[in-house]
Amino acid sequence: MRKKRRALTPAQQRSAASGLQKSLSSAIHLSRSARWGLYLANDGEINPLPTIQRLWRRKKACYLPVLHPLYHNRLWFVRYEPGTKLKPNKYGIPEPVLRGAKRVPPWSLHVVCFPLVAFDKQGNRLGMGGGYYDRTFADRRVIIKRPKLIGFAHHFQQFPELPHEPWDIPLSAVATDQQLHHFRNKKALR
Ligand SMILES: Nc1ncnc2c1ncn2[C@@H]1O[C@H](COP(=O)(O)OP(=O)(O)OP(=O)(O)O)[C@@H](O)[C@H]1O
Ligand SMILES: [Mg+2]
Repeated sequence: MRKKRRALTPAQQRSAASGLQKSLSSAIHLSRSARWGLYLANDGEINPLPTIQRLWRRKKACYLPVLHPLYHNRLWFVRYEPGTKLKPNKYGIPEPVLRGAKRVPPWSLHVVCFPLVAFDKQGNRLGMGGGYYDRTFADRRVIIKRPKLIGFAHHFQQFPELPHEPWDIPLSAVATDQQLHHFRNKKALR
């Protein structure tokens, strides 16, 4: 899956990113959500930037994950606005500079868009193997606040059935360049 997504041309990526935006805009209720967690594309991931720009135009607050400086394998979310200064982290992924930045806990977000390597019909998600999203969203306060967790993916990243572990956080939906999949997963947060 990773090899396949890295092989996409810039034109294919642009068209996928605009398809993703269309899939998302079909979910009217999402437009009520004010605080969004997103990510910057890496390793051929579908690009959320056009979605972020659209959210900015609608005056929504966007946040990006930042590796937590103290807690092992956990994420913080930092406000991302036009002109926010970015700096590559240890994986080479750009992150907002922490100094002076507005930082929020994961449970304060209304919608969180997860990058993924593969997803299946049950809303199981395979990530890059670091456990960052699983650890961050396993927090009891996330379970109480129930943010909507949406995977962003290229259509071809769907797999019939994926192995999953008890710690894997299931998704409530996946938006691709072609459609929005909703999951009726008892374990999903919402
Ligand atoms: N809530 C948790 N508490 C402690 N360890 C965890 C938790 N969630 C995951 N892990 C650990 O993280 C490791 C990687 O998890 P996994 O293979 O599911 O990563 P992933 O879902 O691909 O990564 P990511 O969440 O960063 O996208 C596992 O070996 C697991 O032991
Ligand atoms: Mg996992």
